[in-house]
Amino acid sequence: MNIVDRLKEEHSELQKMLNDLLRGPIDDAERYGRSYIELISRVEAHERGEKSTIYRELLSDIQVRPIALQAMEEHKIIRSMLRDLADVEITEEVWIPRLVVANNMISLHFQIEEGNVLELVQRSFDEAKKEELDKRFLEEEKKALVSLRS
Ligand SMILES: [Fe+2]
Ligand SMILES: [Fe+2]
Repeated sequence: MNIVDRLKEEHSELQKMLNDLLRGPIDDAERYGRSYIELISRVEAHERGEKSTIYRELLSDIQVRPIALQAMEEHKIIRSMLRDLADVEITEEVWIPRLVVANNMISLHFQIEEGNVLELVQRSFDEAKKEELDKRFLEEEKKALVSLRS
């Protein structure tokens, strides 16, 4: 697989996890909480993998560096929104509204990534490079998941 297809596939998986949480119902708060913590780890591992692959490449190109910097800022906002929400009791009234806002931010980020960043990656790198980036992405993501889950 190449990095472009990999990231699109993961975006769908993460979006599905988010939709499941948004749909609820929250009848088993403990299980729901565990799913949410898993979502945070998956999102953060995905972003770390991107940082050390596609964004590392784009940051070194002066022409497209601002695009990568913008994405890094979005990653930061998403990370802090998700982590803040982990401190809110799931039974609180604001839980779902805040998850909706986080979901909106994440969806927008995925849209920008797929529409701008991945388009750029698709055009700029040959197939071998895109496959190599995918391999590196998987390694980095796995490493991040192990440390996030521990
Ligand atoms: Fe991202
Ligand atoms: Fe992404």
